[in-house]
Amino acid sequence: MRKLYIAGNWKMNKGLMETRVFVQRVVPEINKQDLGNVIPLIAPAYPFLEEALRESFSSALQVAAQDVSYHSEGAYTGEVSAQMLASMELKYCIVGHSERRQYHNETDAMVKARMLKLFEHNITPIVCIGETLAQREEGKTEEVIINQLNGCLEGIKLIKGTEIIIAYEPVWAIGTGENATPWQAQEVHKLIRNWLKNNYGETVANELSILYGGSIKPANLKELLEGEDIDGGLIGGASLKEEDFLEMVKIAVASKGEKC
Ligand code: PGA
Repeated sequence: MRKLYIAGNWKMNKGLMETRVFVQRVVPEINKQDLGNVIPLIAPAYPFLEEALRESFSSALQVAAQDVSYHSEGAYTGEVSAQMLASMELKYCIVGHSERRQYHNETDAMVKARMLKLFEHNITPIVCIGETLAQREEGKTEEVIINQLNGCLEGIKLIKGTEIIIAYEPVWAIGTGENATPWQAQEVHKLIRNWLKNNYGETVANELSILYGGSIKPANLKELLEGEDIDGGLIGGASLKEEDFLEMVKIAVASKGEKC
């Protein structure tokens, strides 16, 4: 059974106290629930990862970093290595988010290099891909997605399918309030699943969780999760409020029966 993630990408939001308060409020509510195959996750900024990990210790709430260096260690001012993340026992890390690609010129090759570093330290990458509005309007969505998959995963070994998580995030839907329709999202998720089947086989394709991201909120999540190949969400803005985050976890748990 595939895991269903409700993953909050906090981006450059929330300081120390806000992180602490969020986790302290959310953990007891999460502990009360039978989550089944649903994994709630938050990705705070680097300085607050330790706080989030400590406050969520032994609960089902997972913590991810938002990025990682593709260098191992040394003279790279401002960078954070996979080894450093692993030293906190962190288990997940987002790579290749469109904001990194857009503002920091990140390429598929860099995304792959980051993934390889994460693998060395048993951290699961959440690999983001997605087309821009111009690319969608030019009818290039399929080509862009396939190129990104080829570029990011070239030479990457996957055996179980749980080694990575993929997040399909159409750039035009991120932070715009305009989410992809469930049909649009499902169409691309199916394309990704088929690519996985052709390149890695049935097991990997069946087990690998593919999240949708882009203007998810409690009001549109249920509909999106009805897509056969949509295994949860990478959620920005709507993941910042405790009650919305918890509501989305509940929606995912309730949709579980349909997913199994
Ligand atoms: P959004 O961001 O939910 O605010 O659109 C999603 C993301 O960038 O991961």
